[in-house]
Amino acid sequence: MSTQTSGMAIETAGLVKTFGETRAVDGVDLTVPAGTVYGVLGPNGAGKTTTVKMLATLLRPDGGDAHVFGHDIVREADTVRGLVSLTGQYASVDEDLTGAENLVLLARLLGHRKPDARNRAAQLLEAFGLTDAAAKQVKHYSGGMRRRIDIAASLLNTPDLLFLDEPTTGLDPRSRNQVWDIVRAVVARGTTVLLTTQYLDEADQLASRIAVIDRGKVIAEGTKGELKASVGAGTVHLRLRDPDQRPLAADLLRRLLDAQVQPEPDPVTLTARLGAATSRDTAAEQAARALGELATAGITVDNFSLGQPSLDEVFLALTGHDTRAPGAGAGSGTGSGADHSSGPKDEVAA
Ligand SMILES: Nc1ncnc2c1ncn2[C@@H]1O[C@H](COP(=O)(O)OP(=O)(O)O)[C@@H](O)[C@H]1O
Ligand SMILES: [Mg+2]
Repeated sequence: MSTQTSGMAIETAGLVKTFGETRAVDGVDLTVPAGTVYGVLGPNGAGKTTTVKMLATLLRPDGGDAHVFGHDIVREADTVRGLVSLTGQYASVDEDLTGAENLVLLARLLGHRKPDARNRAAQLLEAFGLTDAAAKQVKHYSGGMRRRIDIAASLLNTPDLLFLDEPTTGLDPRSRNQVWDIVRAVVARGTTVLLTTQYLDEADQLASRIAVIDRGKVIAEGTKGELKASVGAGTVHLRLRDPDQRPLAADLLRRLLDAQVQPEPDPVTLTARLGAATSRDTAAEQAARALGELATAGITVDNFSLGQPSLDEVFLALTGHDTRAPGAGAGSGTGSGADHSSGPKDEVAA
């Protein structure tokens, strides 16, 4: 279906994997441009790991097909295997060996000669801030160090495509930031990254495009901006000097911004949810224009803020349940829990 010149790292069509009655992956279509970070966002049990394992040739699909850099993952599995690397919950490092021993051993298994293997290991330990821990057994590593050595191991050969399966699940914020920096560095060197995550802010931070996956199906796909636009461009909060001007202000916002003005107990506050972002104007431009019109109409605004919708709101809007709803099979509580707030947390009051 595709060719190597398509510039696509991954193309799947109707990919299916069943385990008994469970359709773990239920007809997934993905198109991942080369040279980017692509986010696959979904709760526990959504089918992320199963998808990644098929693409990494560790599991055979039951239906559909997939190409990695134009190579069929079943018929050209050996070629695909040479192009990809996988870091997942089931990494290949040996707990009883030191960090350095692990990397040297794995480099040797990949065919590097001994001096070369040692060099590569030292370089990676340095790059991942593990030089001081190089001589320690991996079983004594912290969660963050463990995740970094896992990713280091997957970069012993520079892969064209790196699968990072929930690379920061369960990590503290500082370690998460370190992993994020690593991902950015890897992409800057030309590797395509397919990142799975349960964390909306992680996809937002790293990925250029995001597929939202729920119960084995892609329920939305696009750039971050497109996903957010499908929910609404943002929310405007105003605080007026004079409550009598509220009806006029609400009317102006409705007409200028195609906004839905929410009823409010406080007579001087006004909250308006902007309609889907138009291609012509950003939410900020729309809001700025509206502020100008309010001023022209003689309406005094004491306070103003514009909030972007969070990816959590996107998930809620798409699925009708949040990422921790029981129906989604989510809620393992593996993360810090700081990333799941479904409220308008971006909307910092002015
Ligand atoms: N080897 C397996 N045998 C049976 N069921 C499985 C197996 N692997 C995954 N599943 C099921 O498939 C679904 C998707 O799992 P998975 O791909 O691991 O999701 P995620 O990585 O998004 O958490 C879940 O319902 C899971 O229980
Ligand atoms: Mg998984």
